Amino acid sequence: MNNAHRLKGEVTVPGDKSISHRAIMFGAISEGLTEVTNFLEGADCLSTISCFEKLGIEIERNASHILVRGKGLCGLQKPSEVLDAGNSGTTTRLISGILAAQSFETTLTGDASIRRRPMRRIITPLSMMGAQIESLGANDCAPLRITGSPLHGIRYESPVASAQVKSAILLAGLYADAPTSVIEPSISRNHSEILLRYFGAEVHTTDTTVTIQPAGRLVGQKVSVPGDISSAAYFIAAGLLVPNSEILIRNVGINHTRDGILRVAKEMGGDITLLNEVASEGEPTADILVRSSHLHGVTIGGSLIPTLIDEVPIIAVMAAFAEGQTIIRDAGELKVKESNRIDVMVTNLGRMGCDIAATDDGMIINGGRTLKGAVIDSNLDHRIAMSFAIAALLADGETQIQGSDCVKISYPSFYQDLQALMR
Ligand code: S3P
Repeated sequence: MNNAHRLKGEVTVPGDKSISHRAIMFGAISEGLTEVTNFLEGADCLSTISCFEKLGIEIERNASHILVRGKGLCGLQKPSEVLDAGNSGTTTRLISGILAAQSFETTLTGDASIRRRPMRRIITPLSMMGAQIESLGANDCAPLRITGSPLHGIRYESPVASAQVKSAILLAGLYADAPTSVIEPSISRNHSEILLRYFGAEVHTTDTTVTIQPAGRLVGQKVSVPGDISSAAYFIAAGLLVPNSEILIRNVGINHTRDGILRVAKEMGGDITLLNEVASEGEPTADILVRSSHLHGVTIGGSLIPTLIDEVPIIAVMAAFAEGQTIIRDAGELKVKESNRIDVMVTNLGRMGCDIAATDDGMIINGGRTLKGAVIDSNLDHRIAMSFAIAALLADGETQIQGSDCVKISYPSFYQDLQALMR
């Protein structure tokens, strides 16, 4: 990747990863047909499809949509092989909530990254509900052996604001003998709540507590997936940072539990305008117009963090080019993502000459230095690769991103879409 002088044009980012996963999963345990348009054909969501196919669900992939032939809450079949979630934490944790309630045993695994990620956070609450889950390496990571069991409703105070944990418990709650509540330290993304309600479940939210009633049935639906704000974030950063730029990002999901990137980019001085806003009881969307701006540092933490958790790497890149200091705190969760994103950002931005230091729960960046191209180790983490592709546009000299094709996890056409804005 090399320096860019301006970025101009429109981009339509692919469908939201979190919502794509959920549309397949909820469709699989619903009665009748679920039709998903603008589904993200990224490797993570394809892992979800493959797991449900192994559980006996027919899923048809067409050019314009996906059809899921749901078999109802209790219609899944015992798979004849191990389920492979690939690199996907969402697949691993959410499917565990469903498998915990089935009448058969399943083994669930994933790639090297997944086999290092913490699963105690779902094993504890699901076990409280009566689930039998064993970490086969006895290290609280996958592979997991899940033996389906009758489940009980619980009231669970989660120590982390994690939509994956919350969703695993809510999905198990569909099968429980009494209502189930999850209380979070602050609100994580609420796509499960929105979509489960749409499929017919009874879900109530008050402040940071979500309660689900045991469900008799869910019914298949048509789901139109909005563009992924986490993918849009790279173009937001690029449009703000590269001089003389103007980018229109079409049809992006702007759910308030996901829009922290917009709030932070504006607070940094970013020229961002929302156009064609479509308010919806479900998932609101807008086109996002971004123009080059002079950015300054910010301090971010607290309940804002879960609303931008996947955008911290690209926010760190913005901070590196912004004037003054940026402090990111309360973001210890970054250590247990696809890679340790605190360490990996500090190491790689440091290689480019950025003044950056890791803290226990985040990082401190003194921005405004000229960065130089470097060899970047993506650690096979898609969000790291895309963040450094943007940093490379601003750095002096060439940047080489090792393992750059890991962008296929969430955004297979990322480099082509970025290239198209350079013409
Ligand atoms: C996701 C939730 C977040 C996020 C991940 C997708 C989801 O993880 O980082 O990329 O779809 O529920 P946590 O819930 O563990 O914070």
